[in-house]
Amino acid sequence: MATLSTHPGGIVILDFGSQYNRLIARRIREAGVFSEILPYNTPYEQILERKPAGIILTGGPSSVLAPDAALPDPRILQAGIPILGICYGMQLLAQLLGGKVERGQVGEYGPARFYRSGENALLEGTPQSFRVWMSHFDQVKQLPPGFRPLGKTGNVLAGFYDDRRRIYALQFHPEVSHTEYGDRILQNFVLNISRAATGWTTGNIIEHQIREIRRRVGNRRVVLGLSGGVDSSVAAVLIHKAIGDRLTAIFVDTGLLRKDEARQVPETFRRHFRMNLRNVDARDRFLSALRGIADPEQKRKIIGREFVEVFTEEASRIPGVTFLAQGTIYPDVIESRPSGGPSATIKSHHNVGGLPEKMQLELLEPLRELFKDEVRRMGLELGIPHKLIMRHPFPGPGLAVRIPGEVTPEKVRLLQEADAILLDALHRHGLYDRISQAFAVLLPVKSVGVMGDERTYGHTLVIRAVETTDFMTARASHLPSAFLDEISTEIINRVSGINRVLYDITSKPPATIEWE
Ligand code: XMP
Repeated sequence: MATLSTHPGGIVILDFGSQYNRLIARRIREAGVFSEILPYNTPYEQILERKPAGIILTGGPSSVLAPDAALPDPRILQAGIPILGICYGMQLLAQLLGGKVERGQVGEYGPARFYRSGENALLEGTPQSFRVWMSHFDQVKQLPPGFRPLGKTGNVLAGFYDDRRRIYALQFHPEVSHTEYGDRILQNFVLNISRAATGWTTGNIIEHQIREIRRRVGNRRVVLGLSGGVDSSVAAVLIHKAIGDRLTAIFVDTGLLRKDEARQVPETFRRHFRMNLRNVDARDRFLSALRGIADPEQKRKIIGREFVEVFTEEASRIPGVTFLAQGTIYPDVIESRPSGGPSATIKSHHNVGGLPEKMQLELLEPLRELFKDEVRRMGLELGIPHKLIMRHPFPGPGLAVRIPGEVTPEKVRLLQEADAILLDALHRHGLYDRISQAFAVLLPVKSVGVMGDERTYGHTLVIRAVETTDFMTARASHLPSAFLDEISTEIINRVSGINRVLYDITSKPPATIEWE
């Protein structure tokens, strides 16, 4: 696994569980510096291995006053590496360095006005007072020896520092956009105080990854499952650029893909990128395995199992393959960490059925350090069409999870038609890029209608469109009602078999984005 040792001079972020941690990492990367989120209790040796220029202790839900408070390896305080503690991280520093923390009378949540005291390196370039975002209950009541106050919000101490030891603490969150000058403060820490290595740019990342792939693979062979989604497409093009025909991409037509995709994806990669690609038509196999199955979990399991079998069979026909490449990205890594920081959660249903274990191949995951927006920028720079790069996510089990109940070829066909009309209309109206994900769901519910002089008895279709930044929470998009009118009419007129269209207005939670 690639770590900071291949990007020395970056920033290590110790994860104490705040919901904003990924924002810290992204803000730092946007400043051109590599940053890595590690569990809060990562041993000192592992932190040093990465040769970090600075360390950030994040916010988190626990209290330093609790007997089981989350603590970092204390040796980081003696290392001479610049440290910035944010929120819980500030209280930790106060406690560990000999100050005093108390339970506050009332919590401070949301916006507040910060008043600076004096000048120092962290707040360089900020005015005497500005708006900040707070989220805490405990308060630092007494500074650790040798430290000076940074400023206050109301009567509450909102930060402290020691320029000589290069240790800084902030009660507010500089990473959230509601904090004015937040970017400037983080940049002061990263660039001026830590003097971190810059050069984390899309061009450099591509060059670095190509070198790494060539070094690891040598003249051996790689196989990759290409779905046509953003991550696997970018991984495929990057690896292809590094090792050319020693990469074989396998595209499986499960029969559960969107309309025309089974034709378009292989065509794009063969024609445009001249990639070595095997196209497997497994439609019958998937659809027969799903016959008579209505339970969502069982459907997912069957699809996962069939996928592994089809993929393994196809891969075993390619002689001399040593590596299995995957488009795993950084959020997947953080989310599936078995003993990660407190903010780690596991999305087990997204890991398509255990491919790597079964295949005994070495894993090649060139995107595992990258956030989605970095992957997208990389894809554009590698010449992947804009439309593909800006695509909404599509679940591994495909349309099967958008057909509650039994999946039949006829239902898949109806859904493909309706979904294509929806996506086409969103593009036409310039709405596609303004929402995070939109799709149609075909319900196993029929209702009576009337078209012309005839009575109809047809399927019900649901339109779902959501807005989200991380797909962990989402709200239903407010699509214009004229647009909803238009697609409802278009779908019912053009897809015979559907005679009613509904709009899903549920957020996540309590619902999930997909229906199954
Ligand atoms: P849910 O339905 O869990 O979906 O709110 C969150 C996001 O994940 C996508 N999704 C999947 N992606 N394999 C995937 O690669 C899956 O099995 C899967 N299930 C859901 C979903 O489309 C949404 O973007």
